[in-house]
Amino acid sequence: MMTNIERIFKDKEGFRGFRAPGRVNLIGEHTDYHYGFVLPVSINKFFYFYLRQNRENKFRVFSENFNDYYEFDYSNLIFNREKTWINYLMGVISEIKKLRGEIPYFDAYLYGEVPMGAGLSSSAAYEVSVAYGINEYFDLKIDKKEIAKLSQRAENNFVGAPCGIMDQFIATFGREKTALLIDTLTLDYEHIPFDIKSRGLRLVVVDTKVKHSIAGEGYSTRRREGEEALRILQKYLNINSLRDLDEEGYELSQKILPSPLKERVAHVYNENKRVLNFVNDLKNDNWENLPKYMLDSHLSLKNLYEVTCEELDFLVEKALEYGAFASRMTGGGFGGSTINLVPESIIDNWIEKITVSYENKFGFKPDVLVLETSDGVREI
Ligand code: GLA
Repeated sequence: MMTNIERIFKDKEGFRGFRAPGRVNLIGEHTDYHYGFVLPVSINKFFYFYLRQNRENKFRVFSENFNDYYEFDYSNLIFNREKTWINYLMGVISEIKKLRGEIPYFDAYLYGEVPMGAGLSSSAAYEVSVAYGINEYFDLKIDKKEIAKLSQRAENNFVGAPCGIMDQFIATFGREKTALLIDTLTLDYEHIPFDIKSRGLRLVVVDTKVKHSIAGEGYSTRRREGEEALRILQKYLNINSLRDLDEEGYELSQKILPSPLKERVAHVYNENKRVLNFVNDLKNDNWENLPKYMLDSHLSLKNLYEVTCEELDFLVEKALEYGAFASRMTGGGFGGSTINLVPESIIDNWIEKITVSYENKFGFKPDVLVLETSDGVREI
């Protein structure tokens, strides 16, 4: 006998499908919630969202990854502690309701191929595909910047993870063979050519398999420390965020702030500069210094911002030792993945070596993904 779920989702007739990509960040880490600069790339791992309006007076949702089903209506649009996978969709519906009122009920089918907890923004891909899909399906005329912003609010307000705007923004605006420079203050953005294959390189992600959660202690502590540093500096300087620090302000910060606040500020200030230098060099097709910017970023995240971990540091060290062009941690840290630019000519050997040495050291294998760049959210 067919189950209810099979009956609802038996044929995809009438469903429209949407997909949004995960991301890696090339450089500009832990700068977005200080309104600084970031340079992420959208990758060819996607979250898929299919929907079809129904007449059932409830949302009916099936998750392929969790092999789980849930239904709800507007009266129980509240955080779900057991089926945590539903909260991202609920969060988006709740934010859309604030903008456009209640939308009609629908059936939805969810499938994600961005690895979860790997620091590749599976949740942003999920939120953006849902927000964009609902907007298209019901013709709500929400513009794309607002799609990114409401997706971030869904994560902040409903899921309770205090992330910045980077991940939702790149999932929305990413473009194949480019990296996206985002000014997270003005939300101006620019697609920067990033055709690594023409350089004989491949984009390789190595996942430590150590899971982190950005809702967790580390991430929110860093946010709080930044706010505290800002409050102190505002007694002396006319600034709205750490992004506004000029050289003089920065020097003052290093004199008056206690540790670890001054180290946190030093990271943010110099990381913003590295992003702009990186972009400048990319635009001039000068790749010579890119590895150094990336390594400096990693070391700053390790020593000043303190968000790396033994596994990440080990992977970066070995990546370079085995011949990667460049390597650093990517995403929130405390686990997650490194991003590596690896010469095509050595790639198989490189993957073999890094896998073996990681396993020897930590007792389990990392996941290695050779990725392509991709476009942002779209209908499929
Ligand atoms: C997570 C957050 C982003 C950003 C990064 C760190 O991925 O979702 O907003 O803060 O961490 O750069």
